[in-house]
Amino acid sequence: MAGKQKILVTGGTGFIGSHTVVQLINSGFEVLIVDDLSNSRVEVLDSIRKITGVAPLFECFDLCDFDTTNNFFAKYKPDAVIHFAAKKAVGESVQLPLLYYRTNLVSLMNIMEASIANGCHKMVFSSSCTVYGQPDVNPVGESAPLQKAESPYGNTKKICEEMLSDFAKVNPFGVISLRYFNPVGAHESALIGEYPLGPPSNLMPVLTQTAIGKRSSFQIFGNDYNTPDGTCIRDYIHVVDLANAHVAAIEKLNTESLVNRISYYNIGTGNGVSVKDMVDAFERTNDLKLNYTYASRRPGDIEQVWADNTKAVAELGWSAKHDLEDMVRSAWKWERNVKVMDLNNSTK
Ligand code: WQD
Repeated sequence: MAGKQKILVTGGTGFIGSHTVVQLINSGFEVLIVDDLSNSRVEVLDSIRKITGVAPLFECFDLCDFDTTNNFFAKYKPDAVIHFAAKKAVGESVQLPLLYYRTNLVSLMNIMEASIANGCHKMVFSSSCTVYGQPDVNPVGESAPLQKAESPYGNTKKICEEMLSDFAKVNPFGVISLRYFNPVGAHESALIGEYPLGPPSNLMPVLTQTAIGKRSSFQIFGNDYNTPDGTCIRDYIHVVDLANAHVAAIEKLNTESLVNRISYYNIGTGNGVSVKDMVDAFERTNDLKLNYTYASRRPGDIEQVWADNTKAVAELGWSAKHDLEDMVRSAWKWERNVKVMDLNNSTK
């Protein structure tokens, strides 16, 4: 498409990636997707086309292969990269640390090198509040001290931010690192959403799979924390709000010379919500009862963390628009549509 800025979205068929692709297209960008489909489905491309009317260019390959990555950049000349593609399962990273260090670090190194070699000078990087560990103070701001990572996954996010900082200092490259809190929910169409390829460990798919009967019950891990209702507190953010933060970051990189530096932004709502709050909101909003019990704490869990997002609001001109009810309603609508899609696929 002549004239449109080309944005490469790595991991663009994933949960956050696909929602960001939709928002980028709706904002007038041309999107290129690279994904190895190791943790997402190719059918997502058709859903993106149904939502936006556009079928983004898609190539499937391993970003850990430099030649393939560099050839892609040379052929398509993206103007900016939004880099989602990474392994992200905390528990798996503890069991398979080398897989996480190799995949998450080598892919980023390849993208940095291929970018500079082919005239791409801007990146939005997918980071995580996990770099803060258990903050001393909540809400947590970007200047809070980074804690020792609780997992190899979290450590790869910290190392990637440091690699990007060192690289940007000595190259014509500007980076915005978005530190996500807890992404939940789904696009209003219910055509894209979180689609765990195995049993989920994170809360929202556990709730929706319990509600739909894929699992008979779930456990709330710990109700003896030092919080009002004893359960852990997180900053849950609607995935469409998170997607919009990436569009705002690209627009920021376009308007200001952020070359030779990396800027960090917390992307959360600024509201702390406990596990019990989330369960209650899910039941109340969707008018159903969930079957659950309380169990012991999950090793590695942070007790409470929520975002000070004032920097993103002030400098990216971004704010979260969806509330807790939107999050639980859209997640449930998506899970119900997954059941319909899976049934349709099983009859083909
Ligand atoms: C949230 C709360 C659980 C399941 C993870 C990653 C983090 C980031 C976001 C990528 C906790 C409780 C959960 C269940 C429960 N991912 N819970 N019963 O751990 O905050 O963050 O996802 O960047 O890096 O660590 O999210 O959804 O797993 O847990 O009680 O069956 O829900 O104990 O308190 P978490 P989560």
